[in-house]
Amino acid sequence: MKQLPLPSEPLHSRRVRRRSRFLPATVFLLLITFALLSLRNSTFTVSSTSTSARFLDRCKAISTPAGPPVGFQSSSRVDRGSDRQVPGTPPTLIRNAKIWTGAHNGTEVVDGDILLDKGVIVSVGKVPGHLLEEAKKHGRLEILDLEGKWVTPGLVDLHSHIGLSSAPILRGSSETNSHKAPILPWLRSVDGLNTHDAAYELSISGGVTTAQVLPGSGNNIGGQAFLIKLRPTAERSVISRILEPPQTLVGNRTTDHHNWRHMKYACGENPDRGYGQTRMDAAWNFRQAYDEARKIRDAQDAFCARVQESNSSWRKLLGLRAKEVEGEFPENLQWESLVDVLRGRVKLSIHCYEAVDLDIIVRLSNEFKFPVASFHHAGETYLVPELLKKTWGGAPTIALFASNARKKREAYRGSEFAPRVLAASGIPVVMKSDHPVLNSRYLLYEAQQAHYYGLDFALALLSVTVTPAKAAGVGHRVGSIAEGFDADIAVWDSHPLTLGATPTQVYIDGIAQLSNPLISTKPSQLQTVPETPNWDREAQKAIEYEGLPPLRGRKVYLGGRRPGEGVLGSKAGVKFLNVKSAWLLDYGGNVQTLFDADEGHVTRKTVIVRDGRIVCFSGKSDLVQCAEGKQEDLEVIDLQGGSIAPGLTTFGSPIGLVEIRLEPSTTDGVVFDPLIGGAPTIIGGDDAVIRAVDGLQFEGRNALLAYRGGVTRAITAPLGNGFLSGLSTTFDIGATSAVDQGAIVQAETALHVALSPRMSVSVSTQVAALRRLLFDSTSDTWNRVREGDVPLVVNVDSADIMATLLKLKSEFEASNGRAIRMTFVGATEAHLLAHQIGSANVSVVVTSPRPYPGYWESQRIMPGPPLTRHTGITALLTANVNVAIGVMDEYNARNARFDVAWVALEANGTISRTQAIGLATTRLHRALGSNHGTDLVAYRGGTLFDLHAKVAGVISFSRRTIEIF
Ligand SMILES: *[C@@H]1O[C@H](CO)[C@@H](O)[C@H](O)[C@H]1NC(C)=O
Ligand SMILES: *[C@@H]1O[C@H](CO)[C@@H](O)[C@H](O)[C@H]1NC(C)=O
Ligand SMILES: *[C@@H]1O[C@H](CO)[C@@H](O)[C@H](O)[C@H]1NC(C)=O
Ligand SMILES: *[C@@H]1O[C@H](CO)[C@@H](O)[C@H](O)[C@H]1NC(C)=O
Repeated sequence: MKQLPLPSEPLHSRRVRRRSRFLPATVFLLLITFALLSLRNSTFTVSSTSTSARFLDRCKAISTPAGPPVGFQSSSRVDRGSDRQVPGTPPTLIRNAKIWTGAHNGTEVVDGDILLDKGVIVSVGKVPGHLLEEAKKHGRLEILDLEGKWVTPGLVDLHSHIGLSSAPILRGSSETNSHKAPILPWLRSVDGLNTHDAAYELSISGGVTTAQVLPGSGNNIGGQAFLIKLRPTAERSVISRILEPPQTLVGNRTTDHHNWRHMKYACGENPDRGYGQTRMDAAWNFRQAYDEARKIRDAQDAFCARVQESNSSWRKLLGLRAKEVEGEFPENLQWESLVDVLRGRVKLSIHCYEAVDLDIIVRLSNEFKFPVASFHHAGETYLVPELLKKTWGGAPTIALFASNARKKREAYRGSEFAPRVLAASGIPVVMKSDHPVLNSRYLLYEAQQAHYYGLDFALALLSVTVTPAKAAGVGHRVGSIAEGFDADIAVWDSHPLTLGATPTQVYIDGIAQLSNPLISTKPSQLQTVPETPNWDREAQKAIEYEGLPPLRGRKVYLGGRRPGEGVLGSKAGVKFLNVKSAWLLDYGGNVQTLFDADEGHVTRKTVIVRDGRIVCFSGKSDLVQCAEGKQEDLEVIDLQGGSIAPGLTTFGSPIGLVEIRLEPSTTDGVVFDPLIGGAPTIIGGDDAVIRAVDGLQFEGRNALLAYRGGVTRAITAPLGNGFLSGLSTTFDIGATSAVDQGAIVQAETALHVALSPRMSVSVSTQVAALRRLLFDSTSDTWNRVREGDVPLVVNVDSADIMATLLKLKSEFEASNGRAIRMTFVGATEAHLLAHQIGSANVSVVVTSPRPYPGYWESQRIMPGPPLTRHTGITALLTANVNVAIGVMDEYNARNARFDVAWVALEANGTISRTQAIGLATTRLHRALGSNHGTDLVAYRGGTLFDLHAKVAGVISFSRRTIEIF
């Protein structure tokens, strides 16, 4: 690297000394000024050209702050339109809307109209006639009457890798991280932006209009980030998507105006992994880089001071020619962006989880004096608000996931209460996707969950609109509905904080993005902001226990081995008051409605549970029946219009086998894959089948959080990363150990294999292996598969592979004369073969109920409203397939009830509530050959379908406990 001309001492001391040295000279020169002035015309000629002149623009440019041009938001933008406007776009009038504008700290709601024209919002509320007339001159006015539906600004995703980790991901378009060095401020995310990412359209259909495209977290400084609008452009270029491209991107070094620049840093575990470095190395990497940038910045400032002086006013006064400045403008292309960080012209997004990492950055910001725009992931920020406030320039915005935590050690203490806790400290909160970690189509779901766990409704909506826009320095034009702002608007089918809220139209730069929106009909009660439960106690405990609060409840009933044989001092059961609905699984494992006030005319009832079973329930009319028998031995719990429902079952993640997925010592480990690695003879060689039950761990945090979320059992397969994983087990997620009574529900449940082109041997080889095992393996497990005792569960996404499997099944059955039980898991493309799967009697467990075309083999998704009428699940139900839902990630097990409710909402009234509950109970048990359960979950304040409900307790007949939270 070229050595730079550097000042030998700090700039400010040079300045001070120089000033004092020149003071007497200045006084003297002033005295002779007048005398010289009279000689000026005849004696000297003023030169306006010198080598210094070419530095003037550069020097001016480095001293201008970043931000929008002065007057950007003025009414002139309403007249002029957006720099992004597309000529020929028809003006649009959105009428009768409930407009959440983002103003007044997110509390303003305007009932009225919005006029969009020339890429901007021309008017909000009552649109004046003359503006309408003016707009009509630009094209035929499109009118959208919303009949009171909600409208918000288009959503802004502060943390996305859209276009870098594209869908479907291919080796040729994996652009998220450079792996060359820990410090790479010179890289630009847009240099890898895939203009064909299938996710753009999907994310738009979720209301997202702007995203910050960040490089990944593989480096301490990963490179420069850029904001893009997600809509396709006629030009089809990368540059045409970029919102306010920084002048440096287009090579303008002499600008008098700077759009904000953006950069990504990461601390903690992710960059460490790439370079075998520790946190100490990371801190030094940063300091060394900053030191480099600081030297250049100081050299530039000193140089520019000389340029200024060369043409100082006294020289001009004297008519002297500007003095020549020696040397070149000090700069270095590699470090120029980091110099701009020091000049406060870059919005930094810093991936940083733990207190120890946050501390490094806060100290760095003070040592080198630069502001931090936002900390991302930021799992422990809610534990250290005072530390955040010590960041140079003030506390950054904190960008969070709602419930995605615990996958890494640094995420282990993440809390669903972080958003509300931070907000209470006055720190701005953003909910983000980290797309494709979470599909940004469902960015709003993050805000919905944050709201559910206690973030104020206005802040929850701000967290995906105004707050991220401000944090990225584009709050002057996106993220709000206001005159002169970009015409980025999302129109919703229900209140945006209700579960499953879906856009019925989305505008970007005033252009409608959905050509034929297919809209589900939502119940009218979903048109208002949902009430949410009280979580004050839990939030307080999360802080008190530094993110690891105790998760067990209070056991109000603890039975003995036999019914009626209660443990001394324990109550005999619970009398639940004010129960609105109750469902349970009957002897056949089917969901039965005991009563449902939402669907019939029944009133709230009292439900008595003894020995883990509902013994009676009564309303006013049948009170007598329930009053029989003594009741003093019962605990009384008011469910406040709540409900009782079967405990849900989770399947699809390695829950119970892993605690912190990326920490091997906290997991059962990964099984041998006999197809690729070859299994050792000591475990039985190729015929060995590993049992998940032998590796179970109980009372993990994901398990207990799921338990507190209404999930009472899990079916878990051994953690494989190849063809054969082994036998799954069904266990009680609330048990304390494997030797607890009732802990293991079914030791061996199903046999699991996976078929995928992403394995190191061909799919046809995998099919050959499966055929051989199915036809010829002499092992006991495969015998049971052949007998139809144990289901053969195949992880498969591609419809082509599913077709091969259907053929293999019928080939086997034809030769064997016996039906086997087969289930497809994952099954993203199953809807393409819905009828064939249905008639082959194959079950399907969809582990991404909201599908994403992440891989080539799973790209033919059925996205659901507003893009398609059907979802993959409704398409399969229509073909009479036994379809159930599962999850991929263990953190998500707790959200099973939201998934159930969401599927029901998307189904547009085609599936009942009992059917919906069956997706995570009856149908799942049937698909995996698990016996059905008797656990019941009591919800306070509503049903498992309602955001205002919260789990009050779990009633376990098999473990003879009632646990209240
Ligand atoms: C000197 O200053 C004058 C007026 O401020 C300006 O027009 C001229 O470009 C400057 N020239 C140099 C070489 O700095
Ligand atoms: C928004 O909230 C801030 C901080 O609580 C307060 O100072 C400000 O006055 C509020 N602004 C409006 C328009 O309500
Ligand atoms: C650089 O930006 C300035 C505005 O700040 C503009 O006047 C000038 O034309 C731009 N130059 C180029 C080469 O784009
Ligand atoms: C939902 O149902 C309503 C009423 O039954 C119907 O008008 C609408 O088209 C349906 N939407 C979709 C996406 O199927």
